[in-house]
Amino acid sequence: MCGIVGYIGPKEKKEILLDGLKELEYRGYDSAGIAIIEKKKLNNFKAVGKLENLANKTKDYHSSGFGVAIGHTRWATHGKPTELNAHPHLGEKSFVVHNGIIENYQELKHKLQKSGVTFVSQTDTETIVHLFEYYQKQNMQAFEAFKKTVDELEGAYATLLISEVEPDTIFFAKNGSPMLVGFDAQDIYFASSDTPIIGKAKEVYYLEDGEYGYAKDGVIRLYNENGEKAFTKQPLSKDKASAQKDGFRFFMEKEIYEQSRVMSETMMGRVNDDSIYFEELDSEFLKDISAIKICACGTSYHSALASSYLFERLARIPCVVEIASEFRYKEPLLDKNTLFITISQSGETADTLEALKMAKRAGLKSLSICNVDNSSIVRESDKAILTRAGIEKGVASTKAFATQTMVLWMLSVYMASLKGTISQDVVKGEIDAMIHTPKALLVNDDLHTKIHRLSKRYLHGHGFFFIGRDIFFPLALEGALKLKEISYLHAEGYPAGEMKHGPIALADSHLFTVALMPRTIHYEKIKSNVEELSARDATILAISPLPFNLADDFVQTHYDSHPMLEFFEMMVITQLLALEISVRLGNDVDMPRNLAKSVTVE
Ligand code: F6R
Repeated sequence: MCGIVGYIGPKEKKEILLDGLKELEYRGYDSAGIAIIEKKKLNNFKAVGKLENLANKTKDYHSSGFGVAIGHTRWATHGKPTELNAHPHLGEKSFVVHNGIIENYQELKHKLQKSGVTFVSQTDTETIVHLFEYYQKQNMQAFEAFKKTVDELEGAYATLLISEVEPDTIFFAKNGSPMLVGFDAQDIYFASSDTPIIGKAKEVYYLEDGEYGYAKDGVIRLYNENGEKAFTKQPLSKDKASAQKDGFRFFMEKEIYEQSRVMSETMMGRVNDDSIYFEELDSEFLKDISAIKICACGTSYHSALASSYLFERLARIPCVVEIASEFRYKEPLLDKNTLFITISQSGETADTLEALKMAKRAGLKSLSICNVDNSSIVRESDKAILTRAGIEKGVASTKAFATQTMVLWMLSVYMASLKGTISQDVVKGEIDAMIHTPKALLVNDDLHTKIHRLSKRYLHGHGFFFIGRDIFFPLALEGALKLKEISYLHAEGYPAGEMKHGPIALADSHLFTVALMPRTIHYEKIKSNVEELSARDATILAISPLPFNLADDFVQTHYDSHPMLEFFEMMVITQLLALEISVRLGNDVDMPRNLAKSVTVE
């Protein structure tokens, strides 16, 4: 969730970097840094916290004349938010900034350490600059050393490197994380999205995965695995608001597409080969915990509800989930051995915060799962696990829900391991499924087009029922909430087995049923429930890996080896369905009527 800016040319570089980083600050704001080479000399500044701290630190510094410059704003993943861990990272004569994850950094780090390199940070990024200098010292030209470095990197990255060895050049590479190059005559800009360079560059080239090269003397030399590559620049948008959407129509749409990528960040450093690790927790904190109570509101409540199945099934811990506004006034009985978990995207939801304070007054240990560091709920809790989804701008929550659910899934496996309620084989199976989650969350064009097409059937009617069983019941609740929030159509989530206890009376051809039919959990049972609705002529949209003949519409899923993979793939489909229906109805997708992103009043 970090941001990158780079510049090569004669203008005041510090201002260009700080200005650009300001546009990216929403992506990460636990530290920031810049590195500038002018007159063959390196200058470097870093500061923890908001960008204004860096601006204060550099207020007496001004760059002049031709030079190269890189800057970064960070959202901590590997290593705490300290100056040492802030980018740019220094080798002996070079600096690097990087977004993404170098998956094989441990391996590379060991190799470099053996050759005598000392690391000063806990980051994966630092390996890039040392690897570059390692090759460069073996008498390689700087670009050859950079190429050799990039060849060895595994994972997702967008990176810029500058070095006193070639003080008039910026080296760049991109794979899996966004990066673009902006042009204005001889001036060249780099950034991880358009906004930092709008108003500065006139044309742009969006780098593709696997591309790398260097900028020098006002030109870019671009390469990929087939060698040097020609490229075509395009005019750069002048509209910052639309640029922040990275080409998507709405923030919500962008955030749905982002889920695959942010999920890797959520897992980073926590999901290891054969264990789950939370640096935020320790076994002492969880000692003597015999039950879990979770409080949350809205979408966060749905995530909590899904996790209650996992805590009970895997960790064999009783888990009760309550809507925070209900919990507050029911005079709840609280037991000191209950772990009190709050879940909140914003960390500011008044009811959830108040529920947390009540639990603390009753002497319970508290843990929050939150997307915003230093928010009220995080500060109030004994321990906090950040979901690392990055800022969510669409009012209808998508990636926050996905990452909350992932953290809770990891936590259930973590607690199950501590308690010894699951075997190592089961742990490995869960981890394997977690690692495949980013793939299950990818949106492909065919899927989106299909949902766009079938959405036109669902604009009227007298209501929607989203139905599912087990963890797919909370997902049904969430699918219905997404739809009603942005389409203003009536939608309910229901446990599939409950339909015949009343709601089936509503069934006719104008009742739309979205049936979540996973292969791995109670397939035959939900199939019977859907058949009962079909027999009453309800219009059925079935989402399943298995073909279902009675469906009016059918969206086939593909990741059916684990319930959570099915969960996440179906989640994306319900989000896209809500989005497309809302668009067809002409609603404001990102700012639906009557809603606010952060509900700080009860
Ligand atoms: C729905 C949505 C809301 C929030 C709820 C709690 O899309 O976003 O239902 O989930 O207002 O907010 P947080 O998670 O910030 O506590």
